[in-house]
Amino acid sequence: MPDQTITSVSRESRVFKPSAEFKAQANLGSEVTYKRLYKESVNSPEKFWAKQANELLEWRKPFKKVLNWKVPHAKWFADGTLNVSENCLDRHLGTPLENKAAIIFEGEPGDIQTLTYKQLHREVCKFANGLQSLGMKKGDRAAIYMPMVPEAAIAMLACARIGVIHTVIFGGYSAESIKDRVNDCEAKLVITSDGGWRRGKIIELKATVDAALKKGVKCVEHVIVHQRTSNKVTMKKKRDIWWHDLMADSSSEHKAKAFAAENPLFVLYTSGSTGKPKGVLHTSAGYLLGTTITSKYVFDLKETDIYWCTADIGWITGHSYVVYGPLSNGATVLMYEGAPNHPEPDRFWDIIDRHGVTIFYTAPTAIRAFMRWGDDYVKKYSLKSLRLLGSVGEPINPEAWMWYHRMIGKKRCPIVDTWWQTETGAIMVTPLPGVTPAKPGSCAVPFFGVVPKILDETGQEVPKGEGGRLFLTQAWPSMLRTLWGDDDRFKKQYWSEIKGIYFAGDGARFDEDGYLWVVGRIDDVLNVSGHRIGTAEVESVLVAHPKVAEAAVVGRPDDLKGSALVCFVTLKSDKAASDDLKQALRVHVAKEIGAFARPDSIRFAPALPKTRSGKIMRRILKDIAAGVEVKGDITTLEDIKVVAALQASD
Ligand code: WTA
Repeated sequence: MPDQTITSVSRESRVFKPSAEFKAQANLGSEVTYKRLYKESVNSPEKFWAKQANELLEWRKPFKKVLNWKVPHAKWFADGTLNVSENCLDRHLGTPLENKAAIIFEGEPGDIQTLTYKQLHREVCKFANGLQSLGMKKGDRAAIYMPMVPEAAIAMLACARIGVIHTVIFGGYSAESIKDRVNDCEAKLVITSDGGWRRGKIIELKATVDAALKKGVKCVEHVIVHQRTSNKVTMKKKRDIWWHDLMADSSSEHKAKAFAAENPLFVLYTSGSTGKPKGVLHTSAGYLLGTTITSKYVFDLKETDIYWCTADIGWITGHSYVVYGPLSNGATVLMYEGAPNHPEPDRFWDIIDRHGVTIFYTAPTAIRAFMRWGDDYVKKYSLKSLRLLGSVGEPINPEAWMWYHRMIGKKRCPIVDTWWQTETGAIMVTPLPGVTPAKPGSCAVPFFGVVPKILDETGQEVPKGEGGRLFLTQAWPSMLRTLWGDDDRFKKQYWSEIKGIYFAGDGARFDEDGYLWVVGRIDDVLNVSGHRIGTAEVESVLVAHPKVAEAAVVGRPDDLKGSALVCFVTLKSDKAASDDLKQALRVHVAKEIGAFARPDSIRFAPALPKTRSGKIMRRILKDIAAGVEVKGDITTLEDIKVVAALQASD
């Protein structure tokens, strides 16, 4: 049972209405139209989605059947065929869009590259031919481990073009994490770069791939290496190929094949409540429809926009709102390779002014970091090109919302606080910028076809204003289809908390106006700086250390990161606690998972608080980590003295 108290976080009661000016130009500016469409989308979902799918996507073979829903398995538009890459690229050729920028790239060192739709199409075709020349074919898996460079998007779109399932691995993951993911989906190919720039340093990606493949990976036949930083890399004969060599031999003509709507598009690993990450599977047409329609209405995306989503391509936000959604809408996407504070903490604002960014989508943790760095870095820039702001990844605290509104949006830009997940594929709950008045801290109202419900343990809806668990009760096109190779876990994880409806893993409440307030995860997943980290994942890495007997990991509220990682560790009886060992354990976790999972604090404890049946009582550890009084019943503890010992631990 979740043991987190769900409370309101709002201290800001103002409501911010869209301006008349914004409304007048919005893709959807009428409340009446929104209400009518929403009603249709939930009352006649098949009719609604059929119309949208025909309007927004290009089909090779039109579908007849809209939805086949055998809980929890959905098939959308199953008898139709299309090609996702063709929808993102080819359909803009021969239109006035073909010579406009699809991607404007800025590297951390300051190099800038623009790819028009025509040029991007050419690169994708060449790379698709290159992949085929290596024997890659429909259904094969390719892992992509790259920095934020156009080639990452090219690789994804080329895979999509030939029906190869991509699995993008965030560039911050360790060799061990790469190995687990590559092995789990049995990738035949890894696409990487020699390195990427981060805070003026080179992150050696190829070397990390080499280390991963030495750890007992048998499935990988080839590694394609894109040259970004020109650092020295070792190329293994026969296995490793330079990107530029492959491209030099490839034709730029490539006729895309049509694939069934339900053909798998990608697997994206995300943290769950056990040590093993879950491979979330998304398929083609439904996913593309979800990302296309939300890009159009939530970001009010137009062909004239310069749109910047700061998410890394290794996360779902990068998939849906750097690549598929915006490109299928024919937008111009800005991609930035590096850190927000390199060389100075004004880099983002400088980029916005120089490139004339109109839409900016980022995470609350970044906003809080900018607040901390100080307003002077922002004030140097006009930011006058901006017309819409977005937030994603975690609840945005009202203070950060207000700062974003005032300092970045200059009180002129609507803010869309978008709630969604790797599993949902696309935005589920959000204000519509030309329609919905925003309340700072609330992600507002459901998008088309989305029916959120807040339920208690017995499956009853809780009254407005009360907290409970968030469920989605209606199937939607971009929903995950299963977990790669583990349909049982899929059923158990999402569809059995309350049988037959989707459990999001979040705690939330509706207010009296029907606005949704998401509090955060109530399962054993932490949201650290907008990154999902499973507590069990960190625990299993800690107990694998030779000196550790037991470990329990919890989150502690943190002003900057949302949650900080606190690890309670019991050492083997003959091992001594020391500051050096603490440091070694932090490094160990960073090495095994990735630097973003480095614990904020390690606390050595003689024992962990367990019930008589041996279950760790995490709520006690959460209170201790937060430095607050231990609340609730502790009489079920096997040994009550443990609490005092834990409080004294450091
Ligand atoms: C959290 C990221 C509050 C939530 C797209 C969810 C949010 C998890 C919001 C998914 C938001 C995401 N307000 N919480 N606007 N957006 N979350 O899979 O806990 O990396 O379950 O997808 O992030 O994280 P994921």
